[in-house]
Amino acid sequence: MGREELRELQLERLQWTLRHAYENVPFYRRRFDEAGVRPSDCRTLDDLAKFPCTTKHDLRDNYPFGMFAVPRQDLRRLHASSGTTGKPTVVGYTRQDLDLWAAMVARSMRAAGARPGQLVHVSYGYGLFTGGLGAHYGAERLGCTVVPASGGMTARQVQLITDFRPEIIMITPSYMLTLLDEFDRQGIDPRAGSLRVGIFGAEPWTERMRAEIEERAGIDAVDIYGLSEVIGPGVAQECVETKDGLHIWEDHFYPEIVDPFDESVLGEGAHGELLFTSLTKQAMPIIRYRTRDLTRLLPGTARPAMRRMEKVTGRSDDMIIIRGVNVFPTQIEEIVLGTRGLAPHFQLELSTRDRRDEMTVRVEARPDADAERRAAAATEVAARVKDSVGISVGIDVVDEDTLERSVGKIRRVVDRRGE
Ligand code: DLL
Repeated sequence: MGREELRELQLERLQWTLRHAYENVPFYRRRFDEAGVRPSDCRTLDDLAKFPCTTKHDLRDNYPFGMFAVPRQDLRRLHASSGTTGKPTVVGYTRQDLDLWAAMVARSMRAAGARPGQLVHVSYGYGLFTGGLGAHYGAERLGCTVVPASGGMTARQVQLITDFRPEIIMITPSYMLTLLDEFDRQGIDPRAGSLRVGIFGAEPWTERMRAEIEERAGIDAVDIYGLSEVIGPGVAQECVETKDGLHIWEDHFYPEIVDPFDESVLGEGAHGELLFTSLTKQAMPIIRYRTRDLTRLLPGTARPAMRRMEKVTGRSDDMIIIRGVNVFPTQIEEIVLGTRGLAPHFQLELSTRDRRDEMTVRVEARPDADAERRAAAATEVAARVKDSVGISVGIDVVDEDTLERSVGKIRRVVDRRGE
């Protein structure tokens, strides 16, 4: 499909979605009425900007089933994301929504290089989190054989990968590092094994992390993006042949970039907060959902009709403000992974001393780094953080296997400022 044809399809689907939401979800009806807009006011794709945005707060306020546009009996599945505070956000799917989701994950996997008949090891957590079941049904839809390993029991995962010989692994990048360490511990070389492609997502990860994983595992590492409020994994996917950002499956999920402060729509190529409007979902149509993810839109490459989003380097929620300077954990990841003698395992600890906020980068040494190398690495990291981020931080180089390992989404920041 060409770009023009796609835009026509998007408009038609968008108009349906706005009507569907207005007629069946009291929350949207109220919001549209308050803003003085009607679904019929959307005559072009740009008209979407007239409609109000939706936030995670709105989903919480309508807990548990207030965002659904179909009777509860028509839902075939619920998922929920825990969130850090208060009530979880609940999402629901009709049969058709589940089919769409499986098709989008299958499409993503194919773009990642997976093919029917291959064996897929899924280490995303199964349960209320959308990662495990989302990947699972997508892999089945593509015609693969699925091993539903879920997260945890890492030693056994290594055994399953060694014995079953999967070509594809779907896992968070941070848990992949845990798994690679376990391969080392068991004296097995993952490069000599069966894995060819890793499909990594659910958390931000950097180009340096890609290089680390590809080198150690001997695979192609590609990025998959999604969020439960929009559907789950499979909203956007990086193509293995270009590895240049993620193609958004725009025939079903319409992206916009806005200024996070005033919600004004930003032009093509500008950095800002990513918004999504679903175009075909039945159970939970979502209008201009503020993802909090920061990125920008770029034209399509490997899939020319579909625009790309740049790799997400952070969420506005993950942004740390230290003495007035904004820091994203991915900035520290780039530096740590680019420093000789340091392992890719680190944590950021925030504390207060003399009423001043301080940050300590706690990072593990590589097993072969001697005391001298460790000291040099600490000095290097401190200097590079000062240089590129603009703040002075403490560096604590610790022994290997000291820091807690991820089995799913990693928690990078330990905030002790209130203590
Ligand atoms: O994390 C869905 C998912 C599962 C995506 C497995 C990919 C793989 P939530 O738990 O609702 O859903 O969290 C969504 O995770 O808004 C981003 O902040 C972050 N995120 C997801 N994928 C990526 C990625 C799943 N590839 C939130 N890069 C999103 C950076 C990501 N951040």
